[in-house]
Order: sequence, then structure tokens, then C-alpha cells
Amino acid sequence: MNEVSCPKQATAVIHDKIGDFKPKVGLILGSGLGGLADHIEDATSIPFADLPGFPLSSVSGHVGHLVTGYLKGMPVACLRGRVHSYEGVKPEKIKILVRTLKLLGCESLILTNAAGSLDPSIGPGSLMMITDHINFQPSNPLIGQNDDEYGPRFIGMEDAYDVDLRTQILATAKSLNIPLERGVYMAVLGPSFETPAEIKAFSLLGANAVGMSTVPEVIVARHCGLKVAVISAITNLAAGLSEEKITHEGTLYHAQQASHSMTRLITTLMERLS
Ligand code: HPA
Repeated sequence: MNEVSCPKQATAVIHDKIGDFKPKVGLILGSGLGGLADHIEDATSIPFADLPGFPLSSVSGHVGHLVTGYLKGMPVACLRGRVHSYEGVKPEKIKILVRTLKLLGCESLILTNAAGSLDPSIGPGSLMMITDHINFQPSNPLIGQNDDEYGPRFIGMEDAYDVDLRTQILATAKSLNIPLERGVYMAVLGPSFETPAEIKAFSLLGANAVGMSTVPEVIVARHCGLKVAVISAITNLAAGLSEEKITHEGTLYHAQQASHSMTRLITTLMERLS
């Protein structure tokens, strides 16, 4: 069992449960942002434990289920609960998750995450659409033998964040009067939060937000040809930019505060795209 065969086996298990239902959009929901999955209609929920090769997340705020169904008419497959490199989860697991979405028929992948803001004027509760990233994690999920049946050895990342999806997301936010920032996401390994000196350095490098997830999934998704969009819920000002201490509990609290607008934004986007 590996990252080539597991997605096929997981897809077979999922098909046993959902018949010929074919999701068009994959969703991966971040810390404290899983509530969007509750809006999926005609839902079928499958625990990760039932899916060959799927990882079991250990972080509070992450419940490992794959949920299929309709979000405002759009057939979706949603990974509720993600895994992070800092849990010691191998990058192969991230390949299995994302490639299963691809094999199920998804054409796009929309991800949410919790992130710290490097801009003091963009505080907790804000939403930021990611326009580009800096991979500051000391790894890449595509390291190792290339899995040719999913994608080529070398892939370009100039257009990692799909321009059409970004246009649709901006228009949706505007129609709902939801302020939506745009920025560059810096992916760090964690699990320690950053030092103020690191945040100062990341700012100089061009980052607007920082977090411990997403970029591995984006890389795997682009490798297998999924279109990608990412929306971050800003849960705190990054280290050194505020008096407030950064904690996981605070992250979950502020993600929950942002989750209402996040849910409205993504459900309305699904309505618009379906
Ligand atoms: N740093 C890294 N990851 C995060 C942060 C942060 O400040 N906030 C939420 N996730």
C-alpha cells in the first residue's frame, strides 16, 4: 500500500458508499473551520479510519471525516480535519488525501486555514484570499520517485492559485459585503509559533500571513492538475505585532469567529459556480 495504490483503494471504498455520485469540488477545512461541512446536504460521512492509507489527525479541532454531498447544488467532497507535517505525518499521507479527491472526480480544490497576520491593520476575524505562497517548510511532498500516473516530475507553480477561481471568490465576497484581503502565505513547519525576529524576516521576504499547513496540499493538488484556491481566517497578529499571546486555543476561538463569514463566502461561491 502506498501513495499510488491507496487513493485507488480509498476511492473504491468511497464508491461503495456513495454509488455514482461524482464530486466536482474538493474542500479541505482548517482548524476551527470544519463547520462548513455541516451545510452539506444529502451528506455521507466516512471516517478517515475506514479509508486505506488515510491519516489519523491528532490535533484538537480536527475531526477526520470525508463528507460528500451537495453544497448549494454543487457536488462536493470535503476533508474535514487535516493533518500537519508537525504531527510527524509523512508527506505520502497528504498525497493520498488529495489524490483521492482527484480520483473521485474533483476538478478544483478549495482549502481553508487559520493563519497569523503580518499586517497590523489586518486583525483576527479577517479573511484573506491567498494569491501566492512561500514554502518555508523544509520539505516538499513530491520528493521521491515521481508518481507518473498522477502528474509529471517537474511542475510549474507560477499559477498555483487559479486566477478564475480568485476572480469568482472576489466577486462573491463583494456581493456579500464580506471584506476580503489578499496576500502571500508563508508556510512554516511549526508546531512552535514564530519569534518576533522570524516574523520581521518573513515580512521582509514578502509574506502577509503565516501558518503551518496548506502548502503541501497545494503542491500535490497542482501536481495532479487540480485548480486551487485558498482562503485564510486570520486568527491573530503574528508574533511581536501585538501584546496578546499566541495560543492554539486563541487560534481556534478566532477561527470560529471567522467561520460564519467563511461559510457564507464558500457556500455562495458554490451556488455561483454550480
Ligand atoms: N503562526 C503560525 N501558524 C498560525 C498562526 C501563527 O501566528 N496563527 C494561526 N496559525
